[in-house]
Amino acid sequence: MRQAGRSLPEYRDLRTRHGMLEICRTPELAVEVTLQPIRRLGVDAAILFSDIVVPLQAMGVALEIRPGVGPVIEHPIRSDADVEGLLPLVPEEGVPYVLEAVRALASELEVPLIGFAGAPFTLASYLVEGGPSKNHSRTKALMYSEPQAWRRLMRRLADAVLAYLRAQVEAGAGAVQLFDSWVGELSADDYSTYVLPEVERILGGLADLGVPRIHFGVGSGELLGLMAQAGADVVGVDWRVPIDEGRKRVGDGYAVQGNLDPAACLAPWDVLEAKALDVLERGGGHAHVFNLGHGVLPATDPGSLERLVDLVHDWSPSRGGLGWTAEQSRGGLGRTAEQI
Ligand code: CP3
Repeated sequence: MRQAGRSLPEYRDLRTRHGMLEICRTPELAVEVTLQPIRRLGVDAAILFSDIVVPLQAMGVALEIRPGVGPVIEHPIRSDADVEGLLPLVPEEGVPYVLEAVRALASELEVPLIGFAGAPFTLASYLVEGGPSKNHSRTKALMYSEPQAWRRLMRRLADAVLAYLRAQVEAGAGAVQLFDSWVGELSADDYSTYVLPEVERILGGLADLGVPRIHFGVGSGELLGLMAQAGADVVGVDWRVPIDEGRKRVGDGYAVQGNLDPAACLAPWDVLEAKALDVLERGGGHAHVFNLGHGVLPATDPGSLERLVDLVHDWSPSRGGLGWTAEQSRGGLGRTAEQI
């Protein structure tokens, strides 16, 4: 999840001097911001500091990231001809700065680094809508009325995402997370028809690398089984579905990740503590990666996050559960869901 961004004073301080995309494109800055939450919070894995739209720029898409808004696309993609204009992504040429940051982090970090990418539906939603959207209606309209253009768009994005994630793992990422943040907008039927085949191609195309593949979407409770079947090792569950119920929906043979409501981190400690313990209990102490159900909210007190991390660390070994301690994870997250 987005963990560094916005809630940490050291990040805000750096942002007064550097733009968001500038940080993403400057390896030293991206490395520094990736390390900030590790230093302060002591979490067990680092998430690469970047954004899902970074590879789109390298595919010829003019965009910016507006504070408080999110990614904004200069010329939205609304036709077959627009799709044609998307360039293929060759990671070493298009996003060398990301790979340089991954390489530096892999050698510097004492915890595993999680690389990531946006999944085709979520990337397409930004490209088609032109920015954030409440109901993704333009995206769905394209999907329903121009299925050929839609398929071509999904195929091009999937090709790019697969190449991008493979390059991150080859540069040293110990796990990858595929964010299909806005796919919860779709029914299970539409997901199966319009999205699943390309996600399968991405996750299947990573299998030989032997790193855990985490797959996550917001509000995707009705899709959890399908998202697992798409080829994940770990399925992220947001806070709307309790994690034990999420595990049932995901099915056997997968690990689950989540799923504390990020808003709980704004609550007084006794409320936050009770909610976190509930997630841990429901997680059952095995095949569960404790996390928030979505990114850290900007108004969060970093002190609450520090206490939360300590709570999870104190809880885990006493249950003989995951044992996802810094000590054990130093060797990299090179474990499959079954081993977790
Ligand atoms: O520690 C980290 O912050 C990890 C880096 C990270 C960012 N974006 C940095 C960022 C990660 C993993 C992402 C992923 C991302 N970006 C997703 C998928 C995960 C999710 O949260 O669902 C999505 C959908 C985006 C698109 C995006 N970019 C959004 C929704 C926003 C927030 C807009 C806002 O300000 O409310 C961004 C901008 C963004 N990406 C920020 C950060 C730290 C805020 C930028 C700033 O400093 O102004």
